[in-house]
Amino acid sequence: MNYFILNNGMKIPVLGFGVWNLKDTEQCKSILNSAIQAGYRLIDTASAYLNETAVGEAIKESGVKRYELFVTSKLWVQDTGYEKTKEAFERTLQRLGLDYLDMYLIHWPYGDIAGSWKAMEELYHEGKIKAIGVSNFSIGEMQNLLEIASVKPVVNQVECHPLFQQKELRAFLKENEIYLDAWFPLGSGNKDLLEHPQLKPIADKYGKENAQIILRWHMQEGAIALPKSTKPERIASNFAIWDFELTEQEMNVIRSIDTNKRLSNNPEDEEVKKKITSWVLDI
Ligand code: A2P
Repeated sequence: MNYFILNNGMKIPVLGFGVWNLKDTEQCKSILNSAIQAGYRLIDTASAYLNETAVGEAIKESGVKRYELFVTSKLWVQDTGYEKTKEAFERTLQRLGLDYLDMYLIHWPYGDIAGSWKAMEELYHEGKIKAIGVSNFSIGEMQNLLEIASVKPVVNQVECHPLFQQKELRAFLKENEIYLDAWFPLGSGNKDLLEHPQLKPIADKYGKENAQIILRWHMQEGAIALPKSTKPERIASNFAIWDFELTEQEMNVIRSIDTNKRLSNNPEDEEVKKKITSWVLDI
C-alpha cells in the first residue's frame, strides 16, 4: 500500500519528500534528484521555501512523467484573500514551470482564509489544482473552514512525530475523512526521538533503522509523512519501508512514547502568529 486515497478519490503517495530549507538552487536540485531517483513521487514545497524554481527545474531534468508526480505547494500568509490567492497561485505555477498542481495548501491559519478557500475551490473546479487542503490548522480552525467549504480539504499538514502525535487532531481529521500530513515526521532529527530506547528492539527485529520504524509507524497510523534529508543514503533508506509491517503491539509501544510536546512553532501562540505574519516574501 504505497498510496492513500484522498476524500476526492485522488491517490497520494504515503511518503513524500519535503524541501523546506533547501534554498540554494544547486543543492535543492541535486537533493531532489536523489529523492526522485530513490523513488519519491510526492514533492512538498511552498512559496515560502523560496525554491519553487529549483524544484521545477529538478522535475524537468528528472525525466519522470508529470502524471507520475504529485507536486504540492503552499500559499503564503501575505497572499491570503480571494484575488491575491489566485495571483499567488499563478506565480507558483510559473516558478514551478507546471500547468497544474496536484495539491495546494493554505500554509498557516492566518489572514483571509474564507477568501482564499473560495479562490482555491474555483481553481480546483477549473482543474488547475487536483486537491486542496490546509496546513497548521487547529481543530477549531478546521471546524470554521468546514462550515464554509463546499469542497472539503483533503489534508491538514501539521507537525507530527512519535513525540508529538496530535492524537486529538488526528481523531478529528479521521472522523472528517481528512488525512494528517506530517511535517517533522522524524522529529527534525531530534535525538530524543531517533535514539529513543523503545525503538531499537523493534528496529533490530526487522533489521531496520529507527527512522524507518518511525516512518512505517506514520504510514500504519494512516498519515502521510514528509521526511527530509540532505544525504542520499538517508533519502534512500527513509524510502525503504515497504517490506515489513509493525504489529499492533509494536504500534502501541510507539503510541505510548508520545510526550504531547511540540518541537516547533505552535500556530495558536500569539508570538508565533506575529513572527509568521510579519515575514513578507519578496517574490
Ligand atoms: P540530514 O539532512 O543530515 O540527513 P524531519 O524529516 O523530521 O524534518 O527531519 C529532518 C532531519 O532529520 C534532518 O536534520 C536530517 O538530517 C535528519 N534525518 C533524516 N533522515 C534521517 C535518518 N534516516 N537518520 C537520522 N537522521 C535523519
